[in-house]
Amino acid sequence: MRPILKWAGGKAKLAGQIADAFHEPCGGTYFEPFLGSGAVYLALKERGHIASAVLADANPKLVEVHLAVRDAVDDVLAEIEALPKEDWRERYYDIRELYNLGPCSGPRHAARFIWLNRAGFNGLYRENRSGRFNVPIGRYTRLSIPDEARIRAVSEALASAEVICADFESVIDRAREGDQVYCDPPYVPLSPTARFTGYCSLPFDLPEQKRLARIAQKAALRGARVVLSNHDLPVVRNELYPTARGFEHVARPRVARAISRAARSRQRVAEVIAAIGPLADDEAA
Ligand SMILES: C[S@@+](CC[C@H](N)C(=O)[O-])C[C@H]1O[C@@H](n2cnc3c(N)ncnc32)[C@H](O)[C@@H]1O
Repeated sequence: MRPILKWAGGKAKLAGQIADAFHEPCGGTYFEPFLGSGAVYLALKERGHIASAVLADANPKLVEVHLAVRDAVDDVLAEIEALPKEDWRERYYDIRELYNLGPCSGPRHAARFIWLNRAGFNGLYRENRSGRFNVPIGRYTRLSIPDEARIRAVSEALASAEVICADFESVIDRAREGDQVYCDPPYVPLSPTARFTGYCSLPFDLPEQKRLARIAQKAALRGARVVLSNHDLPVVRNELYPTARGFEHVARPRVARAISRAARSRQRVAEVIAAIGPLADDEAA
């Protein structure tokens, strides 16, 4: 099942390899603390791998979209229907202004968010320092909004899930024996100048990456299996997720990504899917 939103770093294409890294369907609770568009949850749910789920992201405006799609899908569809179609290019900046005026939750917010995600440049989500969404208009010739069937299917897939706005630590801390956690944080940059912090107002620098690795290892020691993705860089393999601390490097896929702001510069970049747990006490250095 395809997600409604385009999201930077979206993992729809890696869902099969992520499922393999878990080894088996989730018998306990599935946690996804860096939810983004929900591409991985939706793919694993469709395969029947997930019964109970906790889905979270630190971006409150994104989380409100998932909540409205889950709880008020008819109203979200009606609000989308009322947004511009043929004249979308002339109306883009009006809709962006209305979005910034609010509301910041509910069906109207969700519809405007989805519309801007499709009409704005490259599906980017970026806010200025005062929290105003400031992405310019996209270069598309046609506006493509997900159809009703897809939005209803996503709503149904979210129906049984707990969806919250939270920092990853409080979410992963809930994982216990038999649970699965998939972590897709903002990636370690490929070069010092390639920094991308556009998802939400919080930075995700090396100390944050290290905090995540520590929290993942603790969850593994409690009996959970944790799968993480990141760029395939020496600092990721050797410092963040080293085999000496119980991490396995289960796959190293090459993925086409738009790594710069220029829409046409999609390049293949190497990523690593790491996994840890369940661990016995003496397995963690
Ligand atoms: C690479 S994206 C996830 C993409 C997702 N896997 C998908 O397929 O769409 C990373 C996400 O982490 C969220 N994020 C950033 N810092 C966070 C934090 N401290 N705790 C939880 N989520 C965070 C961002 O808002 C963003 O949606």
